[in-house]
Amino acid sequence: MSRRDPHSYADLEQGRVTHVDLDLDVDFATRRLTGTARLNLAAPAAGPLDLDTRTLTITGAVTQDGAAVPFELADTDPVMGARLRLNLPAGTTAIAITYATSPEASALQWLEPAQTDGGRHPYLFSQCQAIHARSVLPCQDSPLARFTFKAQMTVPEALTVVMAAAPGEKGPGARAGTRAFTFEMPQSIPPYLFAFAVGDIVSRDLGPRSRVYTEPKTLDRAAWEFADVDSMLLAAEDVFGPYLWDRFDFLVMPSSFPYGGMENPRLTFLTPTLLAGDRSLVNVLAHELAHSWTGNLVTNATIDDFWLNEGFTVWAERRIHEKLYGVEAQALSAAIGRNGLDDALASFGPNSPFTCLKTSGEGKDPDEFYSLVPYEKGFLFVSLLEQTVGREAFDVFIKKYIKHFSFTSITTEQFEEFMEKELPGVAAKVGAQDWIRKPDVPANAPSFTSAQLTSLKALAAGWSGGKRPDIATAKKWTPEDWQIFLQALPRQLSADDCKWLDDNFQLSAHGNCEILCNWLVIAANSGYAPTLPRTRKFLGEVGRMKYLKPLYTALHKSEATRALAKETFAEHGGGYHPIARGGIERILAG
Ligand code: BES
Ligand code: ZN
Repeated sequence: MSRRDPHSYADLEQGRVTHVDLDLDVDFATRRLTGTARLNLAAPAAGPLDLDTRTLTITGAVTQDGAAVPFELADTDPVMGARLRLNLPAGTTAIAITYATSPEASALQWLEPAQTDGGRHPYLFSQCQAIHARSVLPCQDSPLARFTFKAQMTVPEALTVVMAAAPGEKGPGARAGTRAFTFEMPQSIPPYLFAFAVGDIVSRDLGPRSRVYTEPKTLDRAAWEFADVDSMLLAAEDVFGPYLWDRFDFLVMPSSFPYGGMENPRLTFLTPTLLAGDRSLVNVLAHELAHSWTGNLVTNATIDDFWLNEGFTVWAERRIHEKLYGVEAQALSAAIGRNGLDDALASFGPNSPFTCLKTSGEGKDPDEFYSLVPYEKGFLFVSLLEQTVGREAFDVFIKKYIKHFSFTSITTEQFEEFMEKELPGVAAKVGAQDWIRKPDVPANAPSFTSAQLTSLKALAAGWSGGKRPDIATAKKWTPEDWQIFLQALPRQLSADDCKWLDDNFQLSAHGNCEILCNWLVIAANSGYAPTLPRTRKFLGEVGRMKYLKPLYTALHKSEATRALAKETFAEHGGGYHPIARGGIERILAG
């Protein structure tokens, strides 16, 4: 046996699934997908083939010739799900598995019409990263097991299916009152990038290679907010080389989407909280776009190498940002990132194994140890490499790295080996071992600074001594300025100070969720009661964990607001995504 991914039962020596044909019927009444996954193997195989499943009901399995394939579903492990062991007759090249998903499938969120913008139609979406693809289809659910696929999805007539794949034909479905949509993904993907959504979804072209999809009510706002997508695509190609996924479309999700964005190839998913009305949060789009290279072309082999995906992508996101909006803006976003990293390090405590870049997550639920560390410590490490060899040489290296490993899934060790070959001696010079395998952030971390950053930090540092920003000047601050300032303020302020901030700058009514959330957390920590109704309302409007978690944590921390946290969760928790709900439950149980 040779399992190479601690979060998957797959053993690639038993056989490799390289292409999947899916045929699924979507039933909103029972909240189930039912149908067939035909798994095609790279070479004829015989004997055991282990697949990952979670809460799937398997009803049958046959070979390409229709011969029955005996199978056995093991007991469910809380992190891994249930291993499905097929016993392949000699010469098996494909297995058709008939199955149904569960209403509790961890990758799927089924929304009632009331949870959508339009309020008239139900909605369904998937979120497979990190290890939830196995709750949608039986598969080798490891990033090491890349596959191409074709899919047919049958849905109620009034609804549209979009998928992270190239759309093909659509027509009437086999059952009356349904429509069938077909898709094809000709480029091989790791299973966590399998994604689709079903709902009242429309679209608008934004450029020759890009289109925004969303519900009709949101289309105008979304098209305006992300109008820069084509220049981002060009900027990204400048850094990385050609875009290899044909199109870069994206879907603005219902508010319960638990992440900021998800880099599903050809169809990035984005939270509607990015629609600030001033394009101030488009860096998330740049981030997901950058994953088209770092993540989707060159993929982490396992979750323990997750920093290869996220660290490089944050670095790339900021390079794109710098190209479009200048060095000053880049320094501010790096500083905002560093603040987030310091918070994450503080919450893990010194010497925590979770603050290494290369982790050992075996036996642990990836949703539970998800943090900013692989993002921001990864970013610092990649930036350090860039600064050490110089931008020009590093740009050459990055393009080579992408080209060399395109459409493969690699370990941290493979990256190190490649780096040693291409940039000999650099790893030793920067202390790469410490960066990768030791906790916390080494002392040679690059720091990013600018005149504006220094003055904002000085202002915030002087707060306790009575220093206040000039009102007229602060009214002209950019959203990034505000984020830096709020992050640098003391975590607890007096009621008078809270009132002064809110009265002068209307922070509780801010349209930028980063600022709003930062502010509401400070106010909650300060025990400032006037913002609590806004906090409660906000917790019913958004489903993004980045905002839910700090707010519930702040409310739960204080005796005075603990009951409010519980009540708010009782009121809105049912609308949260299962992953978010689990995260909040852990906070409220703490
Ligand atoms: N791939 C991640 C989202 C993710 C990671 C989902 C792990 C599930 C498990 C995505 O690219 C991401 O990093 N999103 C960030 C935005 C970014 C600008 C840091 C987010 O959701 O906040
Ligand atoms: Zn990312």
